[in-house]
Amino acid sequence: MKSDRASDELNRRNTAFDNRLRPGQFGDFVGQQKIRDRLELAVKAAKDRGETLDHVLFSGPPGLGKTTLSYILGDAMGVHVKTTSGPVLTKPGDLAGLLTSLEAGDIVFIDEIHRMAKTVEEYLYSAMEDFAIDIMIDQGPNARSVRLELPRFTLVGATTRIGLIAAPLRARFGLVNRLSFYEPKELAEIVTRSAAKLGVGIEPEGALEIAARARGTPRIANNLLRRVRDYAQVKADNLITRSVAEESLGLLEIDPHGLDEMDIKILETICAKFGGGPVGLSTIAVSVGEEPDTIEEAYEPFLIMEGYLDRTPKGRVATKLAWERLGLSPVSGGLAQPSLFGQGV
Ligand SMILES: Nc1ncnc2c1ncn2[C@@H]1O[C@H](COP(=O)(O)OP(=O)(O)OP(=O)(O)O)[C@@H](O)[C@H]1O
Ligand SMILES: [Mg+2]
Repeated sequence: MKSDRASDELNRRNTAFDNRLRPGQFGDFVGQQKIRDRLELAVKAAKDRGETLDHVLFSGPPGLGKTTLSYILGDAMGVHVKTTSGPVLTKPGDLAGLLTSLEAGDIVFIDEIHRMAKTVEEYLYSAMEDFAIDIMIDQGPNARSVRLELPRFTLVGATTRIGLIAAPLRARFGLVNRLSFYEPKELAEIVTRSAAKLGVGIEPEGALEIAARARGTPRIANNLLRRVRDYAQVKADNLITRSVAEESLGLLEIDPHGLDEMDIKILETICAKFGGGPVGLSTIAVSVGEEPDTIEEAYEPFLIMEGYLDRTPKGRVATKLAWERLGLSPVSGGLAQPSLFGQGV
């Protein structure tokens, strides 16, 4: 495990990198066409009527553009974006402080909104609906509730766990958007735009080579680009061709299908230790040394989408494709259940 300070530093640097490459307007945001159309329409309608934008919820795996879209909304509406996150909002006062400091029309962006304290969430309901909150002042016999009127604002929530958003909260969002993984073509376009910002040349085949290994995720595509750029700068005249991308990603042992070390560990656990499954999430988590939540949010969606893994009521099951990728063959008899193989491929 990295020390907290080292990983904080790494996060800080990654965030700075994210910010540098983050598209600032709808026109620069690649892919997710339906969501973009819907949001652009909502922005235009709200502006034409001179109203505040409806509350917006974004969900989907990490690195797909939830934070990016929230800032783009702020820019398109011409309002401030005040940012906070679920784990920071532990008591109603935290929320009251934030909401009372807003100007009319502002966006409040709550990242990881599923991790907000329950008591805070209840305050948020009336804030979102009535633009007012009732706060308790004093204690004991003098306790009384005071109603604070708030300026009209837009709440933008982001979550990697839509399933953990309570129905009453979810129902208060006018626009609910689920982001999906990106196609290689879209990722190649993102990589090409990022390369231009970073001042490195790239050929279309080089961009596609990076895109293919990016797990459908723009953040990963940009991170891979950063590595390939180093290699191109030192060894290839600052131009990323297909072979430059191949060589540098090969050197880094990045899997050609986009599987990373943890993906492989998860599949190996299911196949080699548990005969292909079904095996429970918490067992997998202990075995690979990662939090169950992280596995469910950050790893499984990709493995399921690519057809390596199925979720069944009894647990996770590896597909035929998973066995093939690992170069293993399903054990006959014992724990393995051949009838389950081939699902979801
Ligand atoms: N559609 C896109 N077009 C171009 N770049 C994108 C797009 N989506 C994301 N990116 C890039 O990927 C990076 C990560 O995106 P972002 O921070 O918005 O992800 P997120 O969904 O908020 O992730 P997390 O769940 O980890 O907070 C951004 O800095 C941006 O450079
Ligand atoms: Mg984010």
